[in-house]
Amino acid sequence: MKQPRLAVGCDHAAVAMKDDIVRDLRGAGLQVEDVGAFNQDSVDYPDFAALVAARVTSGAADLGIALCGTGIGVAIAANKIRGVRAAVCHDVTTARLSRQHNDANVLCMGARIIGPAVAADIVKEWLAADFEGGRHKRRVEKIEALEATQTVKR
Ligand code: RB5
Repeated sequence: MKQPRLAVGCDHAAVAMKDDIVRDLRGAGLQVEDVGAFNQDSVDYPDFAALVAARVTSGAADLGIALCGTGIGVAIAANKIRGVRAAVCHDVTTARLSRQHNDANVLCMGARIIGPAVAADIVKEWLAADFEGGRHKRRVEKIEALEATQTVKR
C-alpha cells in the first residue's frame, strides 16, 4: 500500500509512544490523524480504540494504530467493530505477517511492554508490508463471514 492515510489513538498509558509515532509518520510525509488522548489524564481505552476503528471502517483512514498499556485492551475493543482486523504486535515479524497473512488494518502495541525504538521499527515494518492475498484472502473472507453471523455452528 502506497502512502496510507493513518489514524492513531491511545489511552493515557501510551501518549508518549503515540506522540513519537505521529511525529515520525508525519515527518516521513504521511497523512496522520491523531485522535488522542492528548494528555495522561486517565481515560478508557475502548473509547480511543473505537475512534481509530471508526476512522478505518469509514474509509477516512486506510490503516489505524491503537495503543494502550499492553496493546491488548485496544485490540479487543477494536476487533468488536465490523471490518476491523486488529493485531497486537510486539516484534517486527508478527507485525509483517499480520499485514501479509491477516490483512490487519489496525496495529496495536503496548507502551508498557515495548520501548520506543522497537515500536518505531514495528510501525515501519507493518506499513511496508502488503497483504499477499491468495489463500490468505479465503481465510480473511471466512473471518468476514464470522462477523456477519456472530454465531458458530458446532
Ligand atoms: C490502563 O491502566 C491499562 O489497563 C490499559 O492501558 C491497557 O493496558 C489495557 O489493556
